[in-house]
Amino acid sequence: MPLLIKNCRLLANGKVFAKNILVKNGKISRITNKELKADKIIDAKNNFVLPGMIDCHVHFREPGLTHKEDFLTGSMAAAKGGITTVLDMPNTIPPTTTISALEEKRRLAKKSVVNYGFHFGATADNLSDIKKAKSIAAVKLYMDYTTGDLKVDDFEVISDIFKASKITVVHAEEERVKDITEILIRNKIKNKIHIAHVSSEKELKYAKQNKIKKQITLEVAPQHLFLNDKDLQSLGAFAEMKPRLKSENDQKALWKGVANGDIDVIATDHAPHLKEEKEQANYPFGVPGVETMLPLLLDAFNNNKISLAQIIDLCCANPAKIFKIRNKGILKEGYDADLTIVDLDKRQAVRNEDLLTKCKWSPFEGKILKGWPVMTIVNGNVVYDNGEVFDIKAKEVSYS
Ligand code: NCD
Ligand code: ZN
Repeated sequence: MPLLIKNCRLLANGKVFAKNILVKNGKISRITNKELKADKIIDAKNNFVLPGMIDCHVHFREPGLTHKEDFLTGSMAAAKGGITTVLDMPNTIPPTTTISALEEKRRLAKKSVVNYGFHFGATADNLSDIKKAKSIAAVKLYMDYTTGDLKVDDFEVISDIFKASKITVVHAEEERVKDITEILIRNKIKNKIHIAHVSSEKELKYAKQNKIKKQITLEVAPQHLFLNDKDLQSLGAFAEMKPRLKSENDQKALWKGVANGDIDVIATDHAPHLKEEKEQANYPFGVPGVETMLPLLLDAFNNNKISLAQIIDLCCANPAKIFKIRNKGILKEGYDADLTIVDLDKRQAVRNEDLLTKCKWSPFEGKILKGWPVMTIVNGNVVYDNGEVFDIKAKEVSYS
């Protein structure tokens, strides 16, 4: 059943093109000026069509924490936010640190309406499982305390994990970033390291200071770009996350890193916790984000803080490259038909009651943003259309 999406505005090599996209069997079959025959036609109305966003850092909480989120609610929220692929984190219950837990998560994730992949958790003693884990995006290593109990302290163990995994995503704050560079150099490790949610000028400096730049890629979360520690006064626990919000100066340094290319990826770190949990004295850390990342970035585009080409690199092309996700991240004939149609002029407030995440709140509640996704297409299927989400199952990604 071929689908034709006509009147698309596309961005390629810094130029804007008006094209039609023909989708067949879930793939982009043609990008053309011709109005080819199709069973179904969608009019993009000259809106920009972006490659589907790839969010390489989400906590969809399944299994074990499904009162906060699950693969269906999380993925529906993601689809609404223009995200077509997510990579899920291992700090679930049980944690994704054994082959059987990975297989169980694989089974549970089948309810997802966006494509998905998994990060496999590292512990102090699961090196043999790490070596056995197949079809994973990366190994996730926690060098700091956060939700879950996966912190690894021993540098010898960390070095062995880096050696065993082609790519390790590390939760490393402040001095821990320096520790990573030293471990890599001292042990002559050549495997890749992706540092999750860089939050400060210091972390950026440590990551970029050494001579192993190409080996380390850096991710930043929208909350660290769009909020700073001043927001803690009004938001309290609802702006408490790991890493914590930093100063306005750090925030500026992160934007500079986005502008000069030091930052490789923007990913949500979607970490939903219920309102009731956040209202407790010992509240958990983390904020939801899949529904607000793209609108925040499009609003920033409208304010001349970031270009569309940068958004595509940071949220589509680069995550696909870094995690070697097959046939995704760019609009190209033969690639998967994961597409996000955005209306750059649509102005709308973030409203808690509109959110599909189970936690039903956002630190950006009330903020009026200009630029919203209006349609999300996953494997050639329309899963989000102007406020409505459709339960069409997606697929696990594959890696090259
Ligand atoms: C995350 C969570 O709640 O799972 N919390 C957070 O503050 N970011 C865990 C994490 O990514 O550190
Ligand atoms: Zn996280």
